[in-house]
Amino acid sequence: MTPARAQQRIADLRTQIARADELYYKRAKPELSDFEYDAAKRELADLEEKFPQLAAADSPTLRIGDDRVQGFVEVAHRQKMLSLDNTYNEAELRAFHARLGKLLGRDDLAYTVEPKIDGLAVSLTYEDGKFVRAVTRGKGDRGDDVTVNARTIHSLPAKLRGAAPRLVEIRGEIYITFEEFKRINAERAAAEEELYANPRNLAAGTIKQLDSAEVARRKLEIALYGMGYCEPEVVESQSDLQKRLKAWGLPVVEKYWAVRGIDAVWAAIGELDHLRAGFAYGTDGAVVKLDDRDQQREAGATDKAPRWAIAYKFKPETARTRLLGITIQVGKTGILSPVAELEPVFLAGSTIARATLHNEDEIRRKDIRVGDLVEIEKAGEVIPAVLRSFPAERPAGATEFNLFDAVSGKCPVCGSKIARIEVAAEEAEGVAWKCQNYDCAAQRAGRLGFFCSRRALAIDGVGGVVAAKLVELGHVEDPPDLYDVPVETLATLNLGTADEPRVFGEKNATKIVAARDVARGLPLEKWLYALSVPDVGETTARELGRRHRTFAELAASPLLHAVLKKAELVAQREWEAPASRKNPAKSEADKARRKELCARLDEEIAALDAGPLAGVPADVGPAVAQSTLEFLASVPGKRLLSKLRKLGIDPQGTVVTAGVFSGKTFVLTGTLPTLKREEAEQKILAAGGKVSGSVSKKTSYVLAGEEAGSKLDKAQELGVPVIDEAKFERLLRSGAS
Ligand code: IVH
Repeated sequence: MTPARAQQRIADLRTQIARADELYYKRAKPELSDFEYDAAKRELADLEEKFPQLAAADSPTLRIGDDRVQGFVEVAHRQKMLSLDNTYNEAELRAFHARLGKLLGRDDLAYTVEPKIDGLAVSLTYEDGKFVRAVTRGKGDRGDDVTVNARTIHSLPAKLRGAAPRLVEIRGEIYITFEEFKRINAERAAAEEELYANPRNLAAGTIKQLDSAEVARRKLEIALYGMGYCEPEVVESQSDLQKRLKAWGLPVVEKYWAVRGIDAVWAAIGELDHLRAGFAYGTDGAVVKLDDRDQQREAGATDKAPRWAIAYKFKPETARTRLLGITIQVGKTGILSPVAELEPVFLAGSTIARATLHNEDEIRRKDIRVGDLVEIEKAGEVIPAVLRSFPAERPAGATEFNLFDAVSGKCPVCGSKIARIEVAAEEAEGVAWKCQNYDCAAQRAGRLGFFCSRRALAIDGVGGVVAAKLVELGHVEDPPDLYDVPVETLATLNLGTADEPRVFGEKNATKIVAARDVARGLPLEKWLYALSVPDVGETTARELGRRHRTFAELAASPLLHAVLKKAELVAQREWEAPASRKNPAKSEADKARRKELCARLDEEIAALDAGPLAGVPADVGPAVAQSTLEFLASVPGKRLLSKLRKLGIDPQGTVVTAGVFSGKTFVLTGTLPTLKREEAEQKILAAGGKVSGSVSKKTSYVLAGEEAGSKLDKAQELGVPVIDEAKFERLLRSGAS
């Protein structure tokens, strides 16, 4: 495979994997089977190994930040992790008890009743009391090694207290509290990123998807409730286990009941259902377990689940109400999204008057019409959603919802034309309607809010309401105009109405002024991201910011032109290939001519790869190049740049050509004692060095931390020097002095 082909394939795989992750972890509606997903990841990892110059620090194969989990290392459980049989009704629960009674020849059986935490199952291994590994359930017999991420959980002890077994697998649930879920979603809302639908998806997405630095920013929690392999066997019953877990210093379930007989079980479930409203995390049921270990053993298990335990699931709280209307919101990119306006109804602790409807397709699929009686669901702090309608009780004349007609073909905010567009997985997915007017007030406010969000320029205090007000009153058109708003104007900004004024205040205004001054000095990558250039996300912005000095350089970027040129050559190469299916060779002479042409094209492509495109990751592909160049040359793009110039703001790229590590290539492996992977990489790049994903004879140093993987072996085999963090810091300093 040529590097050009590999680059294309890598880009395709990354897109495919990103989409699968998005669907599985955030939307809970996967399209790829686990097998296909794993195969794509493995192929990507193989290609990145073969073409280290195409490896990217943020590739999905590396995302967790430790190479032991690169593409997820699969680890076998010593004892299989089973699932549980479920029931939603009392009769089935009583039947479960009757079955066990018959099997064990008595009916006064002792049980524990525990909350069923709505997170994801994980198995922790402790050896001689030391935490060594965390593995997800995976397929039951083997799971993904998520040790590095699990180490970010503060409540998880690295050592068990007191006497511990030589080797023990402890099972539990990783989850995220409602509070943390709300915090993260609020941050994402400010950045106009898609919200997580529920804490479970967020927890699952966090433990498996992001780099460990990002994981550490999100507070994962854990509760332990079970045991797998244990050597020597020490536990006599489930209630004994609960006590031991606690004595070892492990976080356990908030409360459990040790009861005898099924009536007492049922009473405990009732109590739990009452209490769980006050829990900080989501519970979706009660787990009923036979207490005695010997009885558990006697009852045994099927392939899937133990016969000695059952999950009694609580039905999620729902309510019925009337759909009064569907309003349309316009986001920063101009996408129109429908919102359900409901007859207010009390549900799960609050009054609900609005719910998400996601997009037009979903409204059609669920056959939801204005005037319908609808069922809505809300669990804890989760965003309320419309589950379904009741067409049988539909008022006469209720018509199918059509977004275009609902807004009379115009943007509901600015009145300009809307167009049907394909949207990527990041937003509504599928097809959507988009307001075409860059100067639409909703888009302006959206961009301003985004500009100020944490991940952009971090000008705290300019959230949705303030941004909308500044735009509405004409103080801001483009985000940089924020710099021209005097502090007095900010201080006296009325966020309420004329009758009920709510003034922004001097303190808040001063904070904004201070934050916008700090932002002046932020690097090009932050500014590029903050200005909402189409198709330029955080990663792409970072890559571009490391390869360009200024906006002016980016606007004329030889690199982006080279990306486009290469895409052209690759397309031509495909078309001219003698074996091309779409364009078969017409004769032997034609074949020969094309063979020669292709060889020349390959050379040209290779020259680009070795020249201007050396080390450029697949994230910077033709789509990004096209839209970046187009945007910076467009009227709004030029206007933004000229405003920055007038303000004296000239963000600098973090380009480094010479430094202590010039000409040196590093490979990182394992967890470093203090530096995050990202930080170490940053230091290497800033000192002019390169970071590669795999060890070869050309590698200058392998920077290894705890639990270093196969790269360490490879380094030793090739005689590449291996250094630790302390040595790394010394090298950095010695070179600099
Ligand atoms: S015991 C062999 N106890 O629910 C018994 N599971 O639907 C295995 N869960 O895979 C599980 N809280 O992820 C058990 N107190 C609890 C639980 C619990 C949540 C989860 C766990 C399990 C799933 C089954």
